[in-house]
Amino acid sequence: MMNTMIVAKELTKIYHMGEEKVHALRGVSFEVKKNEFISIMGPSGSGKSTLLHIIGCLDKPTSGELFIEDLNVQKATDNRLAEVRNAKIGFVFQSFNLMAKATAIENVELPLIYAGVRKRERRERTLAVLERVGLADRVNHRPTELSGGQRQRVAIARAMVTDPAFILADEPTGALDTATGALIMELFAELNDEGNTVVVITHDPDIAAQAKRSIRLLDGEIIHDAGNEVVV
Ligand SMILES: Nc1ncnc2c1ncn2[C@@H]1O[C@H](COP(=O)(O)OP(=O)(O)O)[C@@H](O)[C@H]1O
Ligand SMILES: [Mg+2]
Repeated sequence: MMNTMIVAKELTKIYHMGEEKVHALRGVSFEVKKNEFISIMGPSGSGKSTLLHIIGCLDKPTSGELFIEDLNVQKATDNRLAEVRNAKIGFVFQSFNLMAKATAIENVELPLIYAGVRKRERRERTLAVLERVGLADRVNHRPTELSGGQRQRVAIARAMVTDPAFILADEPTGALDTATGALIMELFAELNDEGNTVVVITHDPDIAAQAKRSIRLLDGEIIHDAGNEVVV
């Protein structure tokens, strides 16, 4: 279907810890359409990160089916999955995951180096996306020279620079104070208004409410999936 970005059907994930089995996901089904803005909420240990890793093709489910646009993820080779991950998915993590010794430009342009984009175009796209996230005057700063909110903006710019089909963020505001976190969510909302599909994990209900739809997980199951009321 043209309008569908992600289809998850009855996903399960069992981790084996020696003798013990951990049922991290117990049959999770949902669809994400293009240009949705979704929060995935739930207490610690409810399976949020596991689900994000699976829909981000970083990990495979134990059972169930997953489609990214028209690609059947189970049937794809590891090479094809790596391609999909690089070309279609932009990841943002709580801990920013930036290279400490590299400038904002160098951090953001890395995915374009992997993608084989030539230097001149790389610089143009990198500067444009850094400007888009409000860091035009910080492009030569290293992470230690930036605030937490600015570091997360660099990470978001890095996720966006390849023009991915969707953005997955795992607790992107978890390391930030409330006001800074709200600004980061505002940035995601703007990117969504500009046509981007965004899925944000959080355990903060106020953060979750800023998305257009919230999915709630508990013990590896979806217990709630509905649109949020628009607050004007
Ligand atoms: N790599 C792993 N090996 C074993 N157990 C794991 C692993 N990752 C997560 N788990 C377990 O799976 C469950 C879900 O974890 P996770 O997806 O990280 O939840 P959340 O992100 O909601 O806190 C938890 O019980 C956690 O301890
Ligand atoms: Mg987690």
